[in-house]
Amino acid sequence: MTDDRGPVHVTGRVLTVKKVGAYRHLTVAAPGIAERFRPGTFVAVTVGDLTPRTHLARRSLWITGVRPTGAHGATVEMVVEANGVGTQWLAGLAQDDHLEMTGPLGRPFALPKESVACLLVGEGYSAGVLFPLAERLRERSCVVTMLLGATDEPHLLGALDARRSARSVSVVTGDGSVGRRGTLAEALPELLASTGADVVYGAGSIPTLHAVAAAAEHHGAWSQVAVQVAQPCGTGLCQGCPLPVVGEDGVGRVVRACAEGPVIRGDRVRWTELVSP
Ligand code: FES
Repeated sequence: MTDDRGPVHVTGRVLTVKKVGAYRHLTVAAPGIAERFRPGTFVAVTVGDLTPRTHLARRSLWITGVRPTGAHGATVEMVVEANGVGTQWLAGLAQDDHLEMTGPLGRPFALPKESVACLLVGEGYSAGVLFPLAERLRERSCVVTMLLGATDEPHLLGALDARRSARSVSVVTGDGSVGRRGTLAEALPELLASTGADVVYGAGSIPTLHAVAAAAEHHGAWSQVAVQVAQPCGTGLCQGCPLPVVGEDGVGRVVRACAEGPVIRGDRVRWTELVSP
């Protein structure tokens, strides 16, 4: 019997590649992955041409949207920032190229049982993982507020999409080119107070997630963050993605980000021992 909730490995076909600010937005026909998707999960993709096979580690990409059915079957969407050899290869994909991918992987965001006030904090391209989450929360009648931030306008993702998914959207940029000038960490306390958020979800850099977790705790809210560490395999096999946490028993330990995360309670992470990839 096959597990219809577990990850699958498929050869996806690239349907569209769009430039979105500083990023590339990929839509890939990937039957099986879209149907199993839950917000917060990711795919591990093989980077480089298969013949001759290049020796690059796989890349983990957040799934930023799915369509379980469509003209080309089930599709998944991902956003790539080309900042290294592997991501440059991914950003250079074109329509009808093929992409080996395994997913969905990782633990999804936990959804509240009741309709509570939720603040979703997204930085740069990582914010993409929050859009399908916002949809799910809205279906549960949660009041969704989004706070999006980036260094500048080209690196700000989805401010317009956010207005469809959230009751209100605030934007901060480091250079003040869109929204207020500043950082997410600076904007957080005021928004936590004004929204009375019960739950805070975060996606972004390690320092930003640390700030999200700390601000949520200070405010008395519960936080869940999508932690981004380097994940050489993405499937739990290589032990190459250490994530220092505090267990339920209060004892510090190291878990695998790809298997026990990447979404994890903000108050469980030992932030000062974690370095950005
Ligand atoms: S990336 Fe290999 S175990 Fe997590």
